[in-house]
Amino acid sequence: MCGIVGYCGDRAAAGVLVEGLKRMEYRGYDSSGISVGYDNRLTIIKKKGKISNLQSAVPDDMTGSYGIGHTRWATHGEVNDLNAHPHSDSTGKITIVHNGIIENYISLRKKLENEGVEFKTETDSEVIAHLISKFYEGDLEKAVKSALTHIEGTYGIVAIHADEPCKMIGARNGSPLVLGIGRGEMFLASDVTAMMAYTKQVVYMEDGDVVVVDKDSFRTTDIRDNERNKEISTVGWDIDEIEKEGFPTFMEKEIFEQPLSVQRGMKGRLDLDQGTAKLGGLNMTNRELRAVSRVIILAAGTSYYAAMTCAYMLERVARIPAGAELSSEVRYKNPIVDPGTLYFVVSQSGETADSLYAMRELQRKGAKVLGICNVVGSTIPRESDGGVYIHSGPEIAVASTKAFTSQLTAMYLFSLIMARMRDMSIAEGKAIVDAMISIPDQIQEGLKQNMYIKSIAEKYYKCRSFFFLGRGLTYPIALEGALKLKEISYIHAEGYSAGELKHGPIALINEETPSVFLVPDDDLREKIISNMKEVKARKGPVIAVAVSGDTEIAEIADDVIYVPKAHELMYPFLMVVMLQLFAYHTALLLDRNVDQPRNLAKSVTVE
Ligand code: AGP
Repeated sequence: MCGIVGYCGDRAAAGVLVEGLKRMEYRGYDSSGISVGYDNRLTIIKKKGKISNLQSAVPDDMTGSYGIGHTRWATHGEVNDLNAHPHSDSTGKITIVHNGIIENYISLRKKLENEGVEFKTETDSEVIAHLISKFYEGDLEKAVKSALTHIEGTYGIVAIHADEPCKMIGARNGSPLVLGIGRGEMFLASDVTAMMAYTKQVVYMEDGDVVVVDKDSFRTTDIRDNERNKEISTVGWDIDEIEKEGFPTFMEKEIFEQPLSVQRGMKGRLDLDQGTAKLGGLNMTNRELRAVSRVIILAAGTSYYAAMTCAYMLERVARIPAGAELSSEVRYKNPIVDPGTLYFVVSQSGETADSLYAMRELQRKGAKVLGICNVVGSTIPRESDGGVYIHSGPEIAVASTKAFTSQLTAMYLFSLIMARMRDMSIAEGKAIVDAMISIPDQIQEGLKQNMYIKSIAEKYYKCRSFFFLGRGLTYPIALEGALKLKEISYIHAEGYSAGELKHGPIALINEETPSVFLVPDDDLREKIISNMKEVKARKGPVIAVAVSGDTEIAEIADDVIYVPKAHELMYPFLMVVMLQLFAYHTALLLDRNVDQPRNLAKSVTVE
């Protein structure tokens, strides 16, 4: 979603800002802009569409060593040059960039209009610039703080003033903001990727923080001037991890990274001798873990399908009642918090508004909520009561791939811990540990099917609708396969439990609607074969993802993608990778922008 970057130092700010915005392109946006300060003047350049449009409008020799930039993902007002950020006050001396939503902007706008202010845009954000201007009496920090006392809603803001050169004021309430500390230069951004080319020393802002930054120092207070002490952290990954490294797209790179990312998620966490696992960040004693009587896992999108898979896994191996719930539903259903229930929030970005607000609602009602997140220092891990980082490394493509298998890894480890504390024997535990250790190699083996999957995609990419069907542990994988296809190819796809097909959706089966069946060699195999036959009987084309050596499937399905034989609980890992590749090749054949699909944002920070 929207991205913010701010710079003050000795470099030409325009270049730094545009480069920072490009690094955040993956978050999804529809317009972009910068405002650069020089000689007591602020120059704004903003353009609808790709950052390349902005780049061509920025003169190569643009002077000015401080400024702010923004990528906008429209919420209030159409996508055009005018509505793009930065926004300025009527004097043109103050510019701001804003992420989030100002909920009371209509009443604030009316009030300001009655006072004679003329608005130029349809956005909620413009009101911030005019409010700051109203309170400005020679001190930008004071004016921002006064303005914030009138604002309701969520924000990450950076403001600059033409008469206070090389100074930025940042504020955060519900939208991420990070300070980057360089030598004689400072950055503010919504995402560390924007500043990674210059510094790895960062300070994560928290809700209620206001930070005053010049090129050599920073000071953080709350809105009422009380000092807030901040810790400086070092970003734990390198700039080359956000490069394509020879792959044509980030999505392909991330799909192929999965043997490594899954391995990283397990590293140091498996206990071979005891057939169990260790997860340091849970902040729970064994006694507390043993007392858990139910687990509820909240998430959105792909993370929700990981949550569903893990709920199945927990019930299966640990025999604990477990369920997955959509964050966007939990927040508003007035959830009943039962003291025996342990809650998890799963989120790649750690910033998804639906998941964050659902977590806060549960915590308000006394729940213990643990986070399963990827982005270190993001809001969910900081506000949760403990949790696990999945360590999949930066995920840049909007469509999540490697984060999904890493989320499974973390939750499988948790399931194993819980299982071994209950009925699971050491021998069974060891079998699961061995099976997990084999996953990276098995994914690697599966990836060899890449070109073959491409040839299957070539056969079906013109179809207008697909079904994805699985049962048990592979049911959520079918849902994820359908989501992946629709996100990046824009083809309509439905994920279903294969057993549910006959209860309605089978009415849609015909020669032009392929069904992708997931057929692991577990106790549901025969049932799934029956469902496949039901589709074949109605002339529906069938693509099966089955286990190597299962020749019977080849006699029923039109096309079969084989995954290596594995422990029956591990097929979600192997099969989902095949579906990611299928979606990927289908999207490429349709000439889609797979890394930045239309209308989508990587980190959904609004409700
Ligand atoms: C995945 O491909 C999606 N783009 C999306 O569904 C995503 O998984 C969802 O928005 C949740 O994001 P999170 O994991 O960062 O919370």
